[in-house]
Amino acid sequence: MTDIRIAQDTTALAEMAAETIQTLADDAIQARGSFTIALSGGSTPKALFILLASQYHDTIDWNRVFIFWGDERCVPPDHADSNYRMARETLLDHVNLPTDNVFRLKGELPPPEAAEDYERVLHSFFGDELPRLDLILLGMGDDGHTASLFPHTEALKETQRWVVPNYVSAKETWRLTLTALVINNAANVMFLVAGTEKAERLKQVLQGAYQPETLPSQLVKPTNGNLIWGVDQTAAALL
Ligand code: 6PG
Repeated sequence: MTDIRIAQDTTALAEMAAETIQTLADDAIQARGSFTIALSGGSTPKALFILLASQYHDTIDWNRVFIFWGDERCVPPDHADSNYRMARETLLDHVNLPTDNVFRLKGELPPPEAAEDYERVLHSFFGDELPRLDLILLGMGDDGHTASLFPHTEALKETQRWVVPNYVSAKETWRLTLTALVINNAANVMFLVAGTEKAERLKQVLQGAYQPETLPSQLVKPTNGNLIWGVDQTAAALL
């Protein structure tokens, strides 16, 4: 089921996302004693993370929350581009979350090693079954990428591995990413997309022809889960 939620502005988008996370966390913790979430990177989720750290500081049972990432840049954890660093500074350092509950992608390792390391981390946490996270947060680039699944890159073709290194020639850089296999096995996937610059691509992704090589965000179709598109009015202007 695809659920498109149009928020007035980025503040309302963060509020919608935070409320959704509160509900999903409560449900998962009540049902299974834990809540597993993969964070997205980039700039859009910052407002959400700041909100979670402040207004949701005492309402979410952070002790029972387990943090993963959908992707990471191949940089050390203290690098300005690190998705881990952004999440640590806006959220993780401000809530009662045990450090053992945080599983970061080790961008400081050579990409193939880092991907293998994270695949081992996922196996040790979820076992040998395909991981089914309670929630995977995603963003969408203005080129239609999501996580680090960029147009016309090798990672789009992966059908076996859970985590892969992915060379992004458009950025002349390596990235680490969960594959569509893991993303589509999540119980819930929530995109957060904001800004006028995303409007044209969002229309193509949601209403245009299916062309995932060019629009990797179209690969995201949870096989047995909910798909939420949280978008602000500017990004939704052409829908
Ligand atoms: C990353 C993200 C990436 C991001 C999009 C949107 O590592 O950059 O995981 O997929 O979500 O590029 O980024 P913005 O939110 O900055 O527009």
